[in-house]
Amino acid sequence: MTSPPHERAAEAASVLLSRANLPAIDIALVMGSGWSPAADAIGETVADLAVTELPHFAPPAVAGHAGRARVVRTASGRHALILLGRTHLYEGRGVEPVVHGVRTALAAGAGVIVLTNAAGGLRPETQRVGEPALISDHINLTGANPVTGPTFIDLTEVYSARLRELAREADPSLAEGVYVALPGPTYETPAEIQMLRTLGGDMVGMSTVLEAIAAREGGAEVLGISLVTNPGAGLVGEPLNHEEVLAVGRATAARMGALLAKLVDKL
Ligand code: HPA
Repeated sequence: MTSPPHERAAEAASVLLSRANLPAIDIALVMGSGWSPAADAIGETVADLAVTELPHFAPPAVAGHAGRARVVRTASGRHALILLGRTHLYEGRGVEPVVHGVRTALAAGAGVIVLTNAAGGLRPETQRVGEPALISDHINLTGANPVTGPTFIDLTEVYSARLRELAREADPSLAEGVYVALPGPTYETPAEIQMLRTLGGDMVGMSTVLEAIAAREGGAEVLGISLVTNPGAGLVGEPLNHEEVLAVGRATAARMGALLAKLVDKL
């Protein structure tokens, strides 16, 4: 029989901390599609391992997701775990592997979880490709949830207003919006994009929400940031592709890295 999810996370956390020779970490960042090049700016590397060296992590399945766990020391001497790449629901491994990284970070002591992603923009009237946007709230259309049993966790403020305020102090130009998550892996149809606009969504993607719920279950504060890499399907008439998503990430890496480096010491 496999052990319960939180025990599996504790096992991974213990290996991580011993490899980094630390009693605990302070903060964790999950780098989504296109965000990996921004990681180098966050701090000085203390340990860098393949996620598969840690117990119960799945190997990366997506191009642009490096599958590494890096521990860095920030300018102010805090320790951040940076997960370069994540497991997605569409890989078909179920919900637990999707949130194992976040649960490992919580078990290693992280009180703040920063979740980044690439997203389609649902409001091309006001959004620009290559711009980051804070996630103010989410709509979970994945049909999944990492919490099981009669555990009625309050999700009134999944994405901490305090952390969003600090992020806006670091970069007053940051937009804010509601992130809608679908299971993927196909991109949306134009009709689905129109539906998501009607539902009140501003960004759409295939990640983040389950990790955010797992982080709230564990009592951590969450900051979510989407990099808008393309207008949603049908909004400008061009087909979507993953290469374009990664290219926007590469083109904006310096800005995203500077933003995250400035942020980690404030959160
Ligand atoms: N839809 C879903 N996920 C995405 C998109 C999109 O348009 N762009 C980047 N990730």
